[in-house]
Amino acid sequence: MPKDSLTVTDNRTGKQYELQIENGAIRANDLRQMKVKADDFGLMSYDPAFMNTASCKSKVTFIDGDKGILRYRGYPIEQLAEQSSYLEVAYLILYGELPKKEDLDNWKYQITHHTIVHENIKKFMDGFHYDAHPMGMFISTMAALSTFYPDAKAIFDKESRQLSTYRLIGKVPTIAAFAYRHAMGLPYAYPDNDLSYAGNFLNMLFKMTEPKYKPNPALEKALDVLFILHADHEQNCSANAMRSVGSSQVDPFSALAGASAALYGPLHGGANEAVLRMLKEIGSKDKVPAFIKEVKEGKGEKRLMGFGHRVYKNYDPRAKIIKKLADDVFEVTGKNPLLDIALELERIALEDEYFVSRKLYPNVDFYSGLIYQALKFPVDMFPVLFAIGRTAGWIAQWEEMLLDSEQKIARPRQLYLGYNQREYVPLVRR
Ligand code: CMC
Repeated sequence: MPKDSLTVTDNRTGKQYELQIENGAIRANDLRQMKVKADDFGLMSYDPAFMNTASCKSKVTFIDGDKGILRYRGYPIEQLAEQSSYLEVAYLILYGELPKKEDLDNWKYQITHHTIVHENIKKFMDGFHYDAHPMGMFISTMAALSTFYPDAKAIFDKESRQLSTYRLIGKVPTIAAFAYRHAMGLPYAYPDNDLSYAGNFLNMLFKMTEPKYKPNPALEKALDVLFILHADHEQNCSANAMRSVGSSQVDPFSALAGASAALYGPLHGGANEAVLRMLKEIGSKDKVPAFIKEVKEGKGEKRLMGFGHRVYKNYDPRAKIIKKLADDVFEVTGKNPLLDIALELERIALEDEYFVSRKLYPNVDFYSGLIYQALKFPVDMFPVLFAIGRTAGWIAQWEEMLLDSEQKIARPRQLYLGYNQREYVPLVRR
């Protein structure tokens, strides 16, 4: 009968240890019993960038990177994108189940009635320079929100967490839209409670002098689906930041500012912008083969942006959905001229031995930038759009961490490779 354990021999001492395997993992702390001398600290595992370390147990999102599977709370992303709405998905991610009608109605009501921000937030945002990056504005305004809601510090109070959740999901589109309007030199547009979550966001972005903004239903739907696709992605860099910052028991507004800062980086939320730059640099379909050749000969120096993923070694399921969505959007906006270059790149790359052997497939960012551009967003806004959708995931990851009795303040160990103790040398003798 096979046992769920691992037998390890420490060759330094010849001693054998049996470590329990639970959910396909050993506990790193079990290594600590392995010592050469009784007063040794004990063995540690070394894992920069958490390449093979599970930092938590989670029930939120499942990814099978080899098979190209993504599920929120067990529901396939394809079904959610096709049949659900962002607010319903946010509820699912946060509370674990699809809402019943009255729960959904109440949820929508609460989110809709927390969209307005304090007037001082507007003044605060006015202080940014005219060319401030909208993501920088978003991050700092999220942190500033914590000063407006000191009651949010009561993180172990369920009602307080609930109220913070309404406030965060309700206010992120408002702050994102205000950042855009500030950058464009336009007056801020207030939320319209008659509109859907995505429709209201479009209203706050694009409303001009008309008394009532009417979002185009196809574009409203496309934006809603994009929010769904970005709602969570298990333990990525920003979710890890949310958990890590939140583990100090700071309020969720401050933790979310930290998560947004992690998203801002080009290796995380900024790749869709890089795809657009790359497509522009290529310039036309006939130059694609030469570009692919350069990527291959560059040996990793030059990358095909929007291709490859740390977890997916198959077509990113989100990219498949976005590709189809692009057709719906382009029917309204007219085709983005860069699409032909993107399609040709994908066609050639998917047949090429270099990409096939390395399992490099289009990821979520390959086509999303083309849609955002067709929706008339400046490239600076792309990571902010990502942040709106991801807010639900960040809060769910944060709450799961807070309520997990095994979690403590996040505090990794290090392998100290510096000097041993040495004597201070006065300045005159150096
Ligand atoms: N173009 C060309 N070659 C690539 C690419 C690419 N996009 N991605 C990986 N490779 C090659 C790489 O050179 C290496 O080749 P070799 O074995 O000969 O050295 C091999 O494939 C493995 O690459 P890696 O860097 O070890 O893989 P990783 O898992 O560390 O990197 C990645 C994942 C997403 C950072 C990488 O694929 C990449 O830089 N892609 C382009 C940027 C991008 O699209 N990022 C968005 C990710 S999805 C959004 C999100 O989740 O935040």
